[in-house]
Amino acid sequence: MKHLTSINDLTRDEALAVLELAKEMHDVQQRPVKKLPALRGRTVINLFFEDSTRTRSSFELAAKWLSADAINISAKGSSASKGESLRDTLLTLDAMGVDAIVMRHAGSGSVHQARGWVNTSMINAGDGTHEHPTQALLDAYSMGADLEGKLVSITGDLLHSRVVRSNVLLLQKLGARVVLVAPPTLMPAGVEHWPATVSHDLDEVLPDVDVCMMLRVQRERMLGGFFPSEREYIAFYGLTAPRLKKLKPDAMIAHPGPMNRGLEISSAAADDPRSIVLNQVSAGVAVRMSVLYHLLAGE
Ligand code: NCD
Repeated sequence: MKHLTSINDLTRDEALAVLELAKEMHDVQQRPVKKLPALRGRTVINLFFEDSTRTRSSFELAAKWLSADAINISAKGSSASKGESLRDTLLTLDAMGVDAIVMRHAGSGSVHQARGWVNTSMINAGDGTHEHPTQALLDAYSMGADLEGKLVSITGDLLHSRVVRSNVLLLQKLGARVVLVAPPTLMPAGVEHWPATVSHDLDEVLPDVDVCMMLRVQRERMLGGFFPSEREYIAFYGLTAPRLKKLKPDAMIAHPGPMNRGLEISSAAADDPRSIVLNQVSAGVAVRMSVLYHLLAGE
């Protein structure tokens, strides 16, 4: 495994191996001294052309806790803002001899395309509306060991979400069933060919799910009106306080963040005892440590 640009880069066994090693990394994360020497002398560049809090900081921590050197570059402040092409930026970093580039970019497919330009390992930290594979891995990790037969609902702005695409691919590999819930205007084209069922009725879905994943309404990617009003969106698709009662007592509430509290998810839901939102953040570092280890330290 050299690159991770899509969940399709991983076989089921490789995905399970990443999740397995993440458990060990999670133990390291709980220690007062968090350094492992595994990637000493290696260099990881975080190249972020879109905003990020948790993905970027967790990749940086993951690299550092494995003793790799980590450098952060964001579009603002890089030569991209002087008109340099993406290819030239990548060739420049590659020429310095770095070992991995973790890239987030607005172009769907851009990280995959970059694989053909550079010698270094490319890791997709979110490419447009295409994929976000490490997010799906950390989501699966947070949902627990055995996902075989589990029912996971993914509700929200699916049209603009890279998280949903990676999650559907991974959850299917791991044997879970997925139900996608969104208004027709926020359903991706071709969703009928995805290995998932589709619903427009959140209330009907909630009582059966083992995991209820809510996704952010991505206003920054919306050019037009995708729903009549926020009030109407919340009424039909928000995980509101009254809706929480429909969930099973042992169901999990997940959200990759950042959350729009009061829109797709109420504070009551985000802070409910069934919420695994902060577990997802914590798992993010462990899973990314595991991914960096698998890509850079070999088998
Ligand atoms: C997601 C992303 O950037 O795709 N966030 C994340 O990485 N945790 C989801 C989002 O932006 O809503």
